[in-house]
Formats: sequence, structure tokens, C-alpha cells
Amino acid sequence: MFFYLACMICMPVLNYKINMPGYNRIYPHGVQICIKNTMKQQDKTVLITGASSGIGLELARLFAQNRFNMVIVARHSEHLQKTAEELRALGSGTVTIISKDLSLPGSARDVYNETTRQGIRVNILVNDAGVGTYGLFTETDLEKELALIHLNIVSLVTLTKLYLKDMLASKGGRILQLASVAAYQPTPRLAVYAATKAFILSFSDALGTELEGSPVTVTTLIPNATDTDFFRKAGMEHTKAALNDPEDPAVVARVGYEALMKGDAHALPPGVKKEVVKSSVLPNRVVARQAEKQVQEEEPRKSKKAKS
Ligand SMILES: NC(=O)c1ccc[n+]([C@@H]2O[C@H](COP(=O)([O-])OP(=O)(O)OC[C@H]3O[C@@H](n4cnc5c(N)ncnc54)[C@H](OP(=O)(O)O)[C@@H]3O)[C@@H](O)[C@H]2O)c1
Repeated sequence: MFFYLACMICMPVLNYKINMPGYNRIYPHGVQICIKNTMKQQDKTVLITGASSGIGLELARLFAQNRFNMVIVARHSEHLQKTAEELRALGSGTVTIISKDLSLPGSARDVYNETTRQGIRVNILVNDAGVGTYGLFTETDLEKELALIHLNIVSLVTLTKLYLKDMLASKGGRILQLASVAAYQPTPRLAVYAATKAFILSFSDALGTELEGSPVTVTTLIPNATDTDFFRKAGMEHTKAALNDPEDPAVVARVGYEALMKGDAHALPPGVKKEVVKSSVLPNRVVARQAEKQVQEEEPRKSKKAKS
């Protein structure tokens, strides 16, 4: 009560915005909005694929701090269990675990059917789960690449289609898609991965444009190299991209979260704008040659954030 009264008096006078866990941004004269949104968020549910590690985990932590109900999806149920405990401790609402391999046919539809069966209405969809495969295309494993395409593209499109319909029917929703700076850069040795990210960016921008004026927004997060388990899983932990001071996943997630909540089209973590501008003015083959240098093998050297 005291806090509410203090806000009522001070906020219009102070005339600036603040951001706190459990609260949306408070704008000038926006105290009522702050209180209302906080209460509403307790009834809102976010579904995050890939919530058990890296950028997805950092996004999940932000949603938990902001009191959302959560559905978290990944393959390994023990990692999901551990994540769920942490999210509850951070203050989330209910946490529902769905253990699913989204690289398999039908799996995204299974996730949707499971949330429907449990009566969960998803207000925010975060398509984070994604993998890469590193190597020359003549040498990489086709089955791994087809599974990657299924995860990075087919499941993302399926989940977007199914939950979007419900969001439009309930007159509100937000979607966050994980692309990458590779979306702008054809990348030798990551040819299939980079192409899936170009697909995500193109698809999400087209969809976001179709939805302008509707109550649903689409935001694409475009990280540069980020310090997660991605590089090890892709078999590229000794490349320049992995070793050359990758970005902190918590910083990347914060940029994505804030852009999503504002309904921005794109979320660009620090340093990415420069890469995007460079890639859009140079011919594709020049961009590809430059990108190739980033994914060349390098002797491990001292790096601020390099993994041990
Ligand atoms: N790290 C970077 O440098 C970077 C840069 C740009 C964009 N991105 C994008 O950011 C997203 C997150 O990557 P990250 O760096 O945070 O990687 P990460 O730490 O390896 O996390 C990947 C998450 O996705 C889940 N996942 C992987 N394969 C899955 C599958 N088949 N089915 C369901 N879930 C699956 C993983 O859990 P399980 O293994 O338990 O399934 C994990 O929770 C990806 O889309 C990636 O392309 C990353």
C-alpha cells in the first residue's frame, strides 16, 4: 500500500522509466499500468524450447523473475527438472516440463497437443532450441543435417503456426524466434546451420509484417557468438568464434526479453549491428569468405570467457 501510494505520487513527478523483476517497464504516469501488468503476468504462460541451457535458460530465468507460468521443452528430462527447480526458486508461477526431441517428425505437434490436453494457454512462445553441425558439407553427416533442419526450421514453423492461431483467437500474444548473425552471413563449414538461420529471419520478418495491426508481435533475436554449450555440441569449440570473447548469454537474453516485451521486430545484442550493416552492403561471396575466417580452427588461447 505504502509502495503503491509512493508510486502514485512520485512517478509522474520523476518522469522516467524503471525496470524491476516482477514488473513491466513503468513509463511516466504509468503506475496503474505497472500494478496491473504485474498481476496479469501471474496468469500468463510462456513456452520456451531449449530452456535448459545457454540463451534459452537465461531467457527462462528472466521470465521466472517476472512471475510467468512456464512450459519448458528440451530433450533431457533431468536437465529440465533441475531448471524447473531453479525457476520456481526464482519466483515463477507453475512450471510444466515437456521432454521432447524436436528434431523428430511430429514432435512439435506433440508439444502443442500436450499443452492443449493440460488446458495450458500459451501467451508467449520462445523458439530457442537449435543446434549446429560444423564441417565441410562434403564431409558432414546428412542425417545430422536433416535432423538440424527439422529442429531449427520445421519445429519452429509448426509451433509458430499452432500457437499463433490460439494467440489470435485470444486477442494477444508474443513470439520470440532465435536467429543468429549467421542469418546475414552464408557461412562455409556451417552452411546448413547458417541457411536455417536465414530462413528463420526471413520467415519471422514476413510473418511479423503480416501481423502488423494484430494483437500478436513477432521478434527475432539475432545473437553473435555467445558463450554457451553450442560450440562444443556443434564440434567447433576450437574455432575463432568460440574462443574470441563470445558474448555473455545473460546479456543476449536480456536484449531479447526487452525487445520481445516492447514488440520490436529485431533484438540485436552488442556488436551485432556492425556485422549486419557490413553483411548487407558486401556481395554474398565476400561475406562468406569473411565468415569463414571466424569459424576456422584456432589453437585454444586465453580468453576472457573461454570454457575450461
Ligand atoms: N551460442 C551461440 O553462439 C549462438 C549464436 C547465435 C544464435 N544461437 C542460437 O541460440 C539458440 C540457443 O542456443 P545456445 O547457444 O543457447 O545452445 P545450448 O546451450 O546448446 O542450448 C540448446 C538448448 O536447446 C535444446 N535442444 C537441443 N536440441 C534439441 C532437440 N533436438 N529437441 C529439443 N530441444 C533441443 C537443448 O537441450 P537438450 O540438449 O536437453 O535437448 C538446450 O536446452 C539456438 O537456436 C542457436 O542457434 C546461438
